[in-house]
Amino acid sequence: MEGLSRLEYRGYDSAGFACIHPEDNRLRYVKAEGKLHNLVAQLELFPVDGFTGIGHTRWSTHGASSVRNAHPHFDCEKAISIVHNGIIENHNELKSRLLQTGHSFHSDTDTEIVAHLFESLSKTHKTFKSAVVDLVSYLQGAYAFIAIMQDQPDMMVLVRKRSPLCIGIGDDEMFVASDMLAFAGKTNKVLFLPDESFSLVRKDMIELYYFDGTSLPMQVQEVQVSWDTYEKQGHDHYMLKEIYEQKGAIHDTVDFLHTVHDRIWDNMGVTAQDIVQLNSINLLGCGTSWHAGYIAQFFFEQICMIPARLHLASEFRHMPLFAQSNSLYVAISQSGETADTLEGIRLIKSMSFATVALTNVSSSTMVRECDGFILTQAGREIAVASTKSFSTQIAALYWLANRIALEKKIITSAQMEQAEEDLLVVAEILENCIENYKMQIMQTYAKQYAQYSKMIFLGRHISYPFALEAALKLKEIAYIFATSYPAGELKHGPLALIDADMMTFVFSHPDPIVYQKIVSNVQEIKARDGKVTAFAFEDQQQLIDIVDVAFVIPRVKPLLGSLAMTGLMQFLFYAIAKELDCPIDKPRNLAKSVTVE
Ligand code: AGP
Repeated sequence: MEGLSRLEYRGYDSAGFACIHPEDNRLRYVKAEGKLHNLVAQLELFPVDGFTGIGHTRWSTHGASSVRNAHPHFDCEKAISIVHNGIIENHNELKSRLLQTGHSFHSDTDTEIVAHLFESLSKTHKTFKSAVVDLVSYLQGAYAFIAIMQDQPDMMVLVRKRSPLCIGIGDDEMFVASDMLAFAGKTNKVLFLPDESFSLVRKDMIELYYFDGTSLPMQVQEVQVSWDTYEKQGHDHYMLKEIYEQKGAIHDTVDFLHTVHDRIWDNMGVTAQDIVQLNSINLLGCGTSWHAGYIAQFFFEQICMIPARLHLASEFRHMPLFAQSNSLYVAISQSGETADTLEGIRLIKSMSFATVALTNVSSSTMVRECDGFILTQAGREIAVASTKSFSTQIAALYWLANRIALEKKIITSAQMEQAEEDLLVVAEILENCIENYKMQIMQTYAKQYAQYSKMIFLGRHISYPFALEAALKLKEIAYIFATSYPAGELKHGPLALIDADMMTFVFSHPDPIVYQKIVSNVQEIKARDGKVTAFAFEDQQQLIDIVDVAFVIPRVKPLLGSLAMTGLMQFLFYAIAKELDCPIDKPRNLAKSVTVE
């Protein structure tokens, strides 16, 4: 259960556990809907135990989040039990065939077909090994699954294609998981299953094979990963704790980058010469990480003066990839496990371009698969809504843009030091803004904003991607609909939405020219009796005077304006979600890390 709880970041729609009872070698199992604590409660009522067991926490892909669809799944005889991550894309076709041959199904999942297919193939093959070789020839998609069988009570079958799977080698015991964090503290010896491989594992023996059945050499690594338990330290939610950790996390990130200043290109898997010749940069990510990349696009273009292209990783694989020499592909991901981003990286690597992971997790799949990496120092982020990972990504990308500019001799060492100093100043401002408005938000504003069911968020230039991030935060934790536009786009259509029930948030910009345009856009809304809340900078009096509510932020360097607003925006939306009594740390339907495409 401890191991499973560490994997709950991959999903918390349901959970289940199965093991082979040592006395009769029969499979026993318990499943529960919802979060892992429901399974723990079930296990207290109906204890099961054994020497070989598998468990799973699910993020629903096929079929509702019910007990029926919770893993593990079984074959007809309930003699084979399977847990699975990923998606079997041709499950419909396989299911029809299995139904025709008399199999009966008890869930709506794609996973269950694997158990039935394995059941029928095991009957026609002399060995498990040849049954697995045959099995994988039928399966399309990405998958990592583990099977246990009554016939072989001391063995597990592991199969991996694209989704991660690793074996922790203990003393007369083995651990298998999608992430080695699950068994951190039990063993540091790890074997990461190569792509398109399978393994037969016993407590003291591992066999490893390619999908075609030929033996694979085993590469056991010693990896130092620890698991620390993180308490809320007096905060009501992890999200609030993490909002307040941002100042320290930005400091730690800048300090860390400062210490690796001279060896950063080695860490990133490139040479100083590559950087000098760099004439474009490509950024990819999903969700909040994509928004951080969007903001960073302005850093690379304005500070290093090279074109930056931003890619939504979930779309990337379906778009034409134009080969660009002297380019760098930076994948941005808090977890380093997001399947869409990983698939993007694999595509880029297949074309022999350099890939760099910007991530918060040193033991992640992305760090292993990319040519190099940059680590943010946010510390473990538990709340599903990204907060400190977003601000540290922005800080790291701002630092990187300056570091590239230094290598290209666009800026001086003194300017590089100033950039680091500016980040530390903004980290201070980020926290001070929360403190300045905390009481008003808790006592007044949270209640007022909680009454709206829809909002429009506007920004311009760098504050537009920030508006996108703000809308994502509000939707994800408070379930309030919010849509974002570059402020100048409002008049091209969405202005029609303005009425007394619509709240518009405007995120200003320190630059005087961009600011004036924002003021004009706000006036267009006020002329139609719309309600407007602004995040404005000090001295932006015209804007402060025309809006209904203004949160005023101290002046910072224009490119760091959004970072300065980050804490206050997150705190305000946290307070709204709290007012609405939402499950803030684990919002419905979501997972901290989305490991399917
Ligand atoms: C944001 O609050 C979300 N948790 C989500 O958008 C997240 O940023 C996205 O799924 C990408 O995750 P990653 O950074 O771990 O790759």
